[in-house]
Amino acid sequence: MKPAVLVLGGASEIGFAIARAYAVRGHAIHLAARNRARLEPMVADLRLRGAPQATAHEWDVLDYGAIEHLLDSLDPAPGIVVSAVGLLTSPDTDLLFRTNFNGPSLALEAVARRFAAKGEGLIIGISSVAGDRGRSANPLYGPAKSGFTAYLSALRNRLFKSGVRVMTVKPGPVATRMLTKKAPFTCTAGDVARAVIRADERGRDVIYVGWIWWPIMTAIRFLPEPLFKRLTLG
Ligand SMILES: NC(=O)c1ccc[n+]([C@@H]2O[C@H](COP(=O)([O-])OP(=O)(O)OC[C@H]3O[C@@H](n4cnc5c(N)ncnc54)[C@H](OP(=O)(O)O)[C@@H]3O)[C@@H](O)[C@H]2O)c1
Repeated sequence: MKPAVLVLGGASEIGFAIARAYAVRGHAIHLAARNRARLEPMVADLRLRGAPQATAHEWDVLDYGAIEHLLDSLDPAPGIVVSAVGLLTSPDTDLLFRTNFNGPSLALEAVARRFAAKGEGLIIGISSVAGDRGRSANPLYGPAKSGFTAYLSALRNRLFKSGVRVMTVKPGPVATRMLTKKAPFTCTAGDVARAVIRADERGRDVIYVGWIWWPIMTAIRFLPEPLFKRLTLG
């Protein structure tokens, strides 16, 4: 039987696109989000697309302990867990860090303990190119995503010998409700989902979506700081 997929932040456009991509491949899907009612039409859609089972669950990433109860309640237990939670802007800086870094990392930590005990599983973290180097645009979202990217790297390193896989997904701009202004090389949530499925099949660790962001971010990462601090990058 194919492993069940849990999407944390299941109402997110990217998260739901990934859920759909796994549903058509015959995986059972669990969606978890703050507002369970919003998930009901989405689980109906997933069943129509071929998921043998699709369920909706209320869960808030800011309630750090709630993940244990969520994981206990899932039948079948997930073998793939996706974190698609994120918040681009807020006047509350603490909320930005808790939503983009603390919350997703602590939730995946609970998942990792269970997967390590079983000796199998796939954890997929949706981070961002914004985490590759801190800059003035989105000055707190980027650093929070940097922390999340580093957390996923540490997790992959720690779990490698236990048979658990960890995939870091770094999209550039994606045309969802999170994207508030036009940006170059914008892709769709469907593009991200297709890239995730391909990366799962190929056993990839870190992917950029679209691929153009790999050379762009490699160049940006290596710019010397005396030059970088003078630049205004979107
Ligand atoms: N769109 C882009 O350009 C882009 C680029 C790079 C990376 N990403 C990342 O991709 C992921 C998905 O984003 P998206 O573009 O699909 O935007 P989105 O639809 O706004 O998804 C973000 C999700 O995070 C959820 N969320 C926020 N706070 C939460 C909380 N306290 N508890 C539970 N869920 C919470 C939101 O839940 P509600 O539905 O309840 O509001 C929303 O569904 C995020 O991690 C984002 O940072 C996006």
